[in-house]
Amino acid sequence: MSVEQEFKKITTRSIIELKQKNIKISALTAYDYLIAKILDRAGIDLILVGDSLGNVFQGKDTTLSVTLDNMIYHTQSVTKGVKRAMVITDMPFMSFQNTVQEAFMNAGRIMKETNAGGVKLEGGKRIAEAIKKITEAGIPVMGHLGLTPQSIHQFGGYLPRGKNEKEANIILEDAKILEEAGAFALILEKIPASLAKQITESISIPTIGIGAGPYCDGQILVVYDMLGLIEDFHPRFVRQYENFSKDAENAFKKYISDVQAQKFPNETESY
Ligand code: KIV
Repeated sequence: MSVEQEFKKITTRSIIELKQKNIKISALTAYDYLIAKILDRAGIDLILVGDSLGNVFQGKDTTLSVTLDNMIYHTQSVTKGVKRAMVITDMPFMSFQNTVQEAFMNAGRIMKETNAGGVKLEGGKRIAEAIKKITEAGIPVMGHLGLTPQSIHQFGGYLPRGKNEKEANIILEDAKILEEAGAFALILEKIPASLAKQITESISIPTIGIGAGPYCDGQILVVYDMLGLIEDFHPRFVRQYENFSKDAENAFKKYISDVQAQKFPNETESY
């Protein structure tokens, strides 16, 4: 039986079961209805409405300016296109760091207004209390460790994290703390494959890697990266499956030339 047939609607339970059955979890980001619909039709397990929309949708240098309203707006579009996949919404910078109560209320707003299946928060120990409070209210939480882009100014760049023993131990400890706090899964971003393996074997909740090697329980990429829509960003962890940027440019050029040469519209395209 295929994974698609096995699960009608993907929930936290199915995501955890996939780890237990040693079936890899497939995840991609989406920010709009049409891409979400295609992803769902293709059989993706999990769709993340990532705050990476700040970079790839809004053209910003970082994710820091993304607002809670932005996340709610994009998640509403994504969930409209999805029947099967689990949809998770990123909590943007400063929507959960201030107080546990604020994090809780903002997570609740996402769930009330978007039809998402859960939320994602970046960070370790320092947000464990917020995760505990949110999960106790019945809201599934996905954690995010390693290179957490909301802390980019503190890290001083997008280099891999956890390469020295001290930092690796902190990430491993954080993974255990987030599991204990109630997270149902963890994103591991840009850490050594060996560390991701150690974390994956040390916790019972699934790990989903991006630039974290092959030993995670699942993989995630930013959808525009893997479609080849982003031209000037080619980190080694992104496999580009198509070249949509070139394909779209060629289509636009053909259209422009047809309009200029009066080849579009023709008779059958007219009323
Ligand atoms: O914002 C995002 O898209 C993410 C993924 C890269 C994991 O956090």
